[in-house]
Amino acid sequence: MRNAQIRASGVSLFYKASEVILSEMNFVIYEGDLVFITGKSGSGKSTLLKALHGAIAPAEGTLEVCGTKFPTGKESAINKLRRKLGIVFQDYRLIEEWTIERNIALPLIIAGYDQKRINDQVERLLNHVRLTHCRDRFPQELSGGEQQRAAVARALSHNPMLLLADEPTGNLDDYSTSLVLELFLAINQLGKTVVIVTHRMPLDLRIKYRHFHIEKGRVCEIA
Ligand SMILES: Nc1ncnc2c1ncn2[C@@H]1O[C@H](COP(=O)(O)OP(=O)(O)O)[C@@H](O)[C@H]1O
Ligand SMILES: [Mg+2]
Repeated sequence: MRNAQIRASGVSLFYKASEVILSEMNFVIYEGDLVFITGKSGSGKSTLLKALHGAIAPAEGTLEVCGTKFPTGKESAINKLRRKLGIVFQDYRLIEEWTIERNIALPLIIAGYDQKRINDQVERLLNHVRLTHCRDRFPQELSGGEQQRAAVARALSHNPMLLLADEPTGNLDDYSTSLVLELFLAINQLGKTVVIVTHRMPLDLRIKYRHFHIEKGRVCEIA
């Protein structure tokens, strides 16, 4: 039996009580799953991801992510969870003043790894996302697709068990989109759980992977 990595039980999310964004969510995501989440703009996709990384708390119900239960009164619980997660955003969010190499190393620097371990890990990741030739460049000197691959490498650098991505290909051309998607599939092949928010589910992946769709404040799984 596979272990549950994310379990939502009767979860509702809102920013103000008068406007519930997502209600009564019940789902389980298992270790090693790859799940696509779709829905129209404004339907609540980013809100759901925010709840998954502890940025907003459930107003009702409980949400368990990598062993951390929300709502939690403890700030330390959120920090503990963040060490097990990697997050990729649509707008990359790389540090402009830092080289690509240093950007990728950021989570390792925060975690206090020694320099040798940081170097080895960054080397491996640069290779994995095919950016070794860009290591000394700054984000502005890379294409959108290259920046997003750097952001994926950074999200993976501390070896997270769960990778969350919010419209990671939203700003990319077809070529970079397929490169980044391939990267996510490869990461999933290594046994990592991956949750990808996207405005459109790639047709050819529908058969193989789970698909949650958000509509009118409800999440339903498309079989
Ligand atoms: N910080 C916020 N405060 C209040 N309302 C918000 C906030 N962020 C998003 N919303 C609202 O929540 C709804 C869902 O937004 P969002 O989750 O960003 O949608 P999506 O990612 O699917 O486009 C929208 O109506 C949006 O206006
Ligand atoms: Mg969004």
